[in-house]
Amino acid sequence: MDIREVAVIGLGTMGAGIAEVFARAGIGVVAIEADPQALNRGLGFLDASLSKAVSRGKLPASEQAEIRARIRPAVGFSDAAAVDLAVEVVPERLDIKRQIFAELDRVTSPSAILATNTSSLSVTAVAAATKHPGRVVGMHFFNPAPVMRLVEVVATVRSDAGVADTVAALARRLGKTPVQVGDRAGFVANALLLPYLNQAAELLEIGYATREDIDLAATAGIGLPMGPLALLDLIGLDTALSIMEVLHAEFSLLRYAPAPLLRRLVDAGRTGRKAGRGFYDYAAGVADSGGNGVSSGAPDTVTLIGDGDEAETDLATALASAGVNVTRNPAHPTELVLVAATAGRKILPAALAAGRPEQAVGLHLPRGFADGRLAELIHTSLSSDKAVAAGVALADKLGLVVVHAPDRPGYLVGALLYPHLADAVRMVQDGYATAADVDTAMTLGCGYPRGPFQLLDAANPSIVLAGLQAMQEAYGFPSLAPPVLLAEHAGAGIQWASFRGGAGARDSGRY
Ligand SMILES: NC(=O)c1ccc[n+]([C@@H]2O[C@H](COP(=O)([O-])OP(=O)(O)OC[C@H]3O[C@@H](n4cnc5c(N)ncnc54)[C@H](O)[C@@H]3O)[C@@H](O)[C@H]2O)c1
Repeated sequence: MDIREVAVIGLGTMGAGIAEVFARAGIGVVAIEADPQALNRGLGFLDASLSKAVSRGKLPASEQAEIRARIRPAVGFSDAAAVDLAVEVVPERLDIKRQIFAELDRVTSPSAILATNTSSLSVTAVAAATKHPGRVVGMHFFNPAPVMRLVEVVATVRSDAGVADTVAALARRLGKTPVQVGDRAGFVANALLLPYLNQAAELLEIGYATREDIDLAATAGIGLPMGPLALLDLIGLDTALSIMEVLHAEFSLLRYAPAPLLRRLVDAGRTGRKAGRGFYDYAAGVADSGGNGVSSGAPDTVTLIGDGDEAETDLATALASAGVNVTRNPAHPTELVLVAATAGRKILPAALAAGRPEQAVGLHLPRGFADGRLAELIHTSLSSDKAVAAGVALADKLGLVVVHAPDRPGYLVGALLYPHLADAVRMVQDGYATAADVDTAMTLGCGYPRGPFQLLDAANPSIVLAGLQAMQEAYGFPSLAPPVLLAEHAGAGIQWASFRGGAGARDSGRY
């Protein structure tokens, strides 16, 4: 089916960008708003975005007027009668969306496709407001629509065969990369991203780590462009909360229960950047940041305790090249006992065995997916402030950036990352998306430099598996149970990059 003219209903944050994307691809757009005032505001967003693209050299000035001429502003739906596709981009409320779809169903030709840009509502429930649910799909763009390349195309159990394929082909014509999935809350990107962000809020709430360390663990430790708490502030804590509520209502998993702190900050009006304050305070124009601990001189000699494994060798090499003397004799009276940490290893037993637990800390160098600069300094319940300060100074001498973590499985980077990777594997195991689609969704939709499966390969699936097993043993939450598919692949040494399995769900025609 050839899409020549589309209607975009709602020219807010997303709709104005979506109208621009269609017009820039040479497609005529009927741009519909609720009233003339909202229409002017929406066209203002669109004009400002086009002018910005011209001033940044992304769009030749000569094309601006041509693109603009393809957009036909309208109040009311009568101008949508002849369109081939209508994309609804009104506020995230089922009652408003159902009303719009009932109206679109009445005015458009029965052969036209009707799409919703909803992020978290059921596309099926929206489709049920029409007499022709077979032509209704989700077409989920990301913010800002002219820039972000991902489009999630969602088919419902009622969608006619071929409708989602037509919309996916159109997305490619717009220069986007479609990922086709069935109608499940959060689709791929939000269903994976939001629980990870929510868990970061939970770690902060229980005092597991500081706000700065949680964000640093994600950026320097995992290589993500932004820390989860800073990202929550950017997305808006209220938006994040409502998506978590939808996920929790759909799947009833404890992991999807919104962190109480998220709810309290929303109650307090601290919804993030837009409110001037969320997890960080933006009132002064830049996010405030707390300090990161005491400073002291680095010890010249440390007692190194390890398992004779790679972690110990790595640490011994780093210490030697920084000119720090190492003794392996616990009785030698050094200021610091350094336990070489590996995912899943507890520090306290080694510290007790050394006989000087108050002088002992763990040091973990997460490998594989970060830039190798980050060290996790692990405190046991018995580590003294002096030992922690000496550990910080030592890490500084080794040229490492430190985050503090308790002596719990996964430490800090793993506590954030391993359950997130497990969610991604579970999504493939459940047949909802392919591993390649998950990686595409997270790189193009969330700005990950590498998708979860690329991260998993880089981190070594066996280490992630061991970390998850230790976390589940410690906490007992079912959502921490390593997915069977992860255990199978780790056991067989299968690289996810070479895994072509995982059907990917297209609900239409499947049930
Ligand atoms: N903002 C995001 O980052 C983002 C990202 C992806 C998807 N979404 C989804 O896109 C949709 C819109 O979100 P938004 O952030 O652009 O909201 P928004 O509030 O910025 O824009 C909604 C627009 O719809 C208009 N509108 C309301 N009722 C209307 C009607 N009856 N007829 C025509 N226009 C009407 C409003 O005047 C407003 O301009 C939501 O479903 C949201 O979940 C948002």
